[in-house]
Amino acid sequence: MRHKGLFVTGVGTGIGKTTAAGAIAHLLRKNDYDVGVMKPVQTGTGAKAKNPDIAFLKQMSGSNDPVQLCVPYAFKAPFSPYHAAAKEKRSVRVAAIADAFNALLRKNDLVIMEGAGGLMVPLTKETFWPDLVRALNVPVLIVTHPDLGMIHQTLSTVMAAEMYGLEMAGIMIVEKAKKKHPPLDIKWLEKRTGLPVLGILPYTTSLKKGKTNYGRFRSHVEKNINPKAIIDFLERSRCSREHRLLEELDKKNLWRPFTQMREWQGENEVIIDSGFGTGLTDLYGKTYYDGQSSYWVNIHGHGNARLTRTLTRQAARLEHATFLGLGNKPAIKLAQRLLELAPDELAKVFYSDNGSTAVEVGMKMAYQYFRQIDPPQPKRTRFVALEHAYHGDTLGAVAVGGIEMYRDKFNEILPDVLFAPSPYCYRCTLGKAFPECSLACARKMEEMIEEHHSEIAAFVIEPMVQCPGGIITAPHGYLKRVREVCDRYGILMIADEVAVGFGRTGRMFACEHEDVCPDIMALSKSMAAGVLPLAATLATQKVYDAFLGKYDERKTFFHGHTFTGHPPACAVALENLDLFKKKKIIRSLEEKSQFLRDHLIRFDNLPCVGDIRQLGMIVGIELVKDRETREPFKPSLRIGHQVILEARKRGLIIRPLGDIIVFFPILSARAKEIKKMTDIIYDSIAAVTGSFEESIEII
Ligand SMILES: Cc1ncc(COP(=O)(O)O)c(C=O)c1O
Repeated sequence: MRHKGLFVTGVGTGIGKTTAAGAIAHLLRKNDYDVGVMKPVQTGTGAKAKNPDIAFLKQMSGSNDPVQLCVPYAFKAPFSPYHAAAKEKRSVRVAAIADAFNALLRKNDLVIMEGAGGLMVPLTKETFWPDLVRALNVPVLIVTHPDLGMIHQTLSTVMAAEMYGLEMAGIMIVEKAKKKHPPLDIKWLEKRTGLPVLGILPYTTSLKKGKTNYGRFRSHVEKNINPKAIIDFLERSRCSREHRLLEELDKKNLWRPFTQMREWQGENEVIIDSGFGTGLTDLYGKTYYDGQSSYWVNIHGHGNARLTRTLTRQAARLEHATFLGLGNKPAIKLAQRLLELAPDELAKVFYSDNGSTAVEVGMKMAYQYFRQIDPPQPKRTRFVALEHAYHGDTLGAVAVGGIEMYRDKFNEILPDVLFAPSPYCYRCTLGKAFPECSLACARKMEEMIEEHHSEIAAFVIEPMVQCPGGIITAPHGYLKRVREVCDRYGILMIADEVAVGFGRTGRMFACEHEDVCPDIMALSKSMAAGVLPLAATLATQKVYDAFLGKYDERKTFFHGHTFTGHPPACAVALENLDLFKKKKIIRSLEEKSQFLRDHLIRFDNLPCVGDIRQLGMIVGIELVKDRETREPFKPSLRIGHQVILEARKRGLIIRPLGDIIVFFPILSARAKEIKKMTDIIYDSIAAVTGSFEESIEII
């Protein structure tokens, strides 16, 4: 698959973008391509709405596409698109440009687009040209001039493009006048930018205002620019040898998490090359919806410019300095913000870098706490956890994991843990139904704790939803009962908010649903919006105070990771929280999760759907062989796996937990995207389980 086109931008205004775009359009046409041309926003048309640029481009490409498609927006004032539109009390919609682009693409092999002004020109209040380029997934050609100042302007434009992760085809130099310019050091420019200079168009008189001599210009272009490099770039991009080599190396060298590697060797792997918004694009240019928020981490969409900018800015200023004996600005500021947001009694922040360590830190804190309080309670050595729990893969975290498959190989080296029944209503081990059961599972859990309380240090729990255990949503009141029983027996409560934290359940933290404050809270996954790994364990003042003492009393918490308090990760996490506020994410979630709920209702039509569980933006759809008896499918059928492969074919990436289909959309996903993704899940389940019913339009 070739690139869909090229976005021609310049290092400023009046640089020769139209000349370069026209030259490329002509060369492609001459090489038998049907070329669409586009000037998404034309500004400075004046009162007569003149549009000479697109007229020139159409001449050069031979396009006869309607002007409304080629120029979706035209404004009179010679300002940036955003400001020119605002002057006419109008605004530019990126989606409308994308629609016109796609319409042109249906009529042509590719589309050459020319931006207005330079690259960092605003299209709307919030978006710049690069946001459009990312959305359309086209490479950029940078047009520059040969005069004094070109190095600075060219390098600045390349750096801006890099910051947005734009793919760049190369640089084209266009002479503006017949005057002498300093000698061009092309090799140096290519080395510094890593980009090829695709051509130099010497000054031509054939483009004089108002009387363009097209014939002369065409031969001028043909004489001075060799189209091979541009065509090779456009054609090579999606099926190069490099891609095949990557696939080979992937299979040869890698060992994947939670994956049977023998089977994996025979499977087609999707290798992701880029991401934008809710989409992930593979090496071959196929774009999929990311229906799992890149394993439960992404909040604001891929390629969010504010997050990338924060990361780049902070990495350039201070990429890392150890937190052992030193502080750094973002880590200090972030701790303050986290404590402002977290339940009231949490007073201290201990950083690490993944969910397992955040939990492990909490467990070690709790264990050590009982050895250091006055009087010490050294008999409290055990932890309580729930069946079906998952808290990570380090040994302590595995010990409190209640999924047999993940722990049975390690049983003998794991600390002893007490497991209470999971509040898994669909498969209640007590054979009861909520609410008539009056939380019989909580009563069982309390009895177990009553019996062993003097040995128990902490109760580790995923508040409200046991996500990796199968999106098991706890019935109302369960979490509060856990807090009460911990209080009754002086047990510390560790809330693992790794998966459910940062808005996933509709609240900033899941504990808020039942107004519960844990003694220790583990955070990770979405903390840095899915951009960088980061984790924190928050503790109350009471817990922290037990670690205070003289140096030789050895009450220090002897734990720490090399990348603790990582400055770029903390800076991105701060930006994440700013975006939560600015975009009113939590407020938006009520409506969004209701919308999602409405779209899940029809899943009930599918005979193999046993249970649909949802809290906020977390969904689990449990597939069963027999709905009446709740008999599961034979594990060897791998129904869940088949459904996600089918969804992948239809353009959605999700991952099942056994036969539970998990949908964990990016929080910023729009209603239209949520609908599309749920439709794909519905159709995929229907196709795999043999009861196909085409999606029906609901909105
Ligand atoms: C609830 C919960 N706790 C802990 C973890 C472990 O996090 P990590 O994979 O970052 O170590 C996970 C990961 O999925 C999780 O869902």
